[in-house]
Amino acid sequence: MELTHRLAAASDTAAIAALMDRAIAELQRPFLNAEQIAASRLSMGLDTQLIADGTYFAILEGEELVGCGGWSKRATLYGGNHSAELRDDRLLDPAREPARIRAMYTDPAHVRRGIGRMILILCEEAVANAGFKRLELMATAAGEPLYSTCGYQVIERVERMSGEGVAVPGAVMGKTLDQA
Ligand SMILES: CC(C)(COP(=O)(O)OP(=O)(O)OC[C@H]1O[C@@H](n2cnc3c(N)ncnc32)[C@H](O)[C@@H]1OP(=O)(O)O)[C@@H](O)C(=O)NCCC(=O)NCCS
Repeated sequence: MELTHRLAAASDTAAIAALMDRAIAELQRPFLNAEQIAASRLSMGLDTQLIADGTYFAILEGEELVGCGGWSKRATLYGGNHSAELRDDRLLDPAREPARIRAMYTDPAHVRRGIGRMILILCEEAVANAGFKRLELMATAAGEPLYSTCGYQVIERVERMSGEGVAVPGAVMGKTLDQA
């Protein structure tokens, strides 16, 4: 069946959270140990601000949610509703600051079908339309191969994505958009 997309709505929240939960638990296994996966939840998951801002996409096959992800015009680089220490709702200046790629998740039953790539293309188009010239993000180890393939470069590697407990590696990555 064909993949379609639309902006996520508040009514999608439960399905999005359940998909994220499955993706975090299963898709990080080749990259992190069990302790690290548990710790990664401190800095991953649902950010309802993205849905409220109208910058979060739902990818569907029929009625089924198979992927989600989005971009942001706010300073928060990564984290969920629960990651208080990582949040900064300040609006970015498109002329001099990069927009963010945020909260990319594919249902484990639907990986390697191009869903992540599709979301990045949607985001890059929307970000350019909003006047931004560049995108940055915090990549998990599981996310880095997707971003590299799609032209994002590592700016800085971090040993721990969240401040306390088990170290979960991440990488700040960025891409300058083509000026059409
Ligand atoms: C990262 C994630 C969203 C990728 O989703 P996806 O829909 O499977 O990605 P795509 O099918 O669009 O992949 C496009 C390309 O990226 C690369 N890629 C994606 N996942 C990869 C992996 N696990 N290993 C190696 N390359 C990978 C490949 O080049 C792939 O093209 P190919 O399948 O033709 O080889 C998904 O693995 C996920 O939800 N991971 C867990 C949550 C997470 O860590 N999210 C990232 C937060 S920063």
